[in-house]
Amino acid sequence: MRAGLVPSTIWFHSEVGTTGSAQAETTKLFPGETLFSTPKPERLIERILQIATNENDLVLDSFLGSGTTSAVAHKIGRRYIGIEMGDHAMTHCAPRLRKVIEGEQGGISETVGWKGGGRFRFYRLGVPVFDENGHVTKGVRFVPLAAHLWFL
Ligand SMILES: C[S@@+](CC[C@H](N)C(=O)[O-])C[C@H]1O[C@@H](n2cnc3c(N)ncnc32)[C@H](O)[C@@H]1O
Repeated sequence: MRAGLVPSTIWFHSEVGTTGSAQAETTKLFPGETLFSTPKPERLIERILQIATNENDLVLDSFLGSGTTSAVAHKIGRRYIGIEMGDHAMTHCAPRLRKVIEGEQGGISETVGWKGGGRFRFYRLGVPVFDENGHVTKGVRFVPLAAHLWFL
């Protein structure tokens, strides 16, 4: 989408892709695997991010899935936080973002002139330090407590 273009209310599949084209994008990244039956095409997420954000803004996807939102955010110069509780955070999302950094040419890469670069950090959440009453959770010992104090 051109910068400054006023968004219309109908988005044609010829402009933003389809579930089918999104399947093709993910199959190219992970041959022989089907992670989700309804992935979003990169072009669709690109249009949403172009409308809703500016360069260097922070994009949060708290249900990361196959990582499309973060991959697109990376390619169009947005910062991002992706949260995912499934094992595919490690088996698919992180490898996908590494491929993006290496300059993979699927999805919107060609249209945005993506050549690779950048970085991301991968974190695992620790155990909850406090319970619902604000008390230190039973079983929590020095290391997570010290980490929490460091964070504060
Ligand atoms: C359908 S996918 C979303 C995909 C992606 N955001 C998109 O729009 O294409 C939903 C994902 O959210 C994850 N999920 C569900 N509940 C979650 C939670 N409480 N915390 C983190 N991830 C969660 C699931 O594991 C699944 O990968």
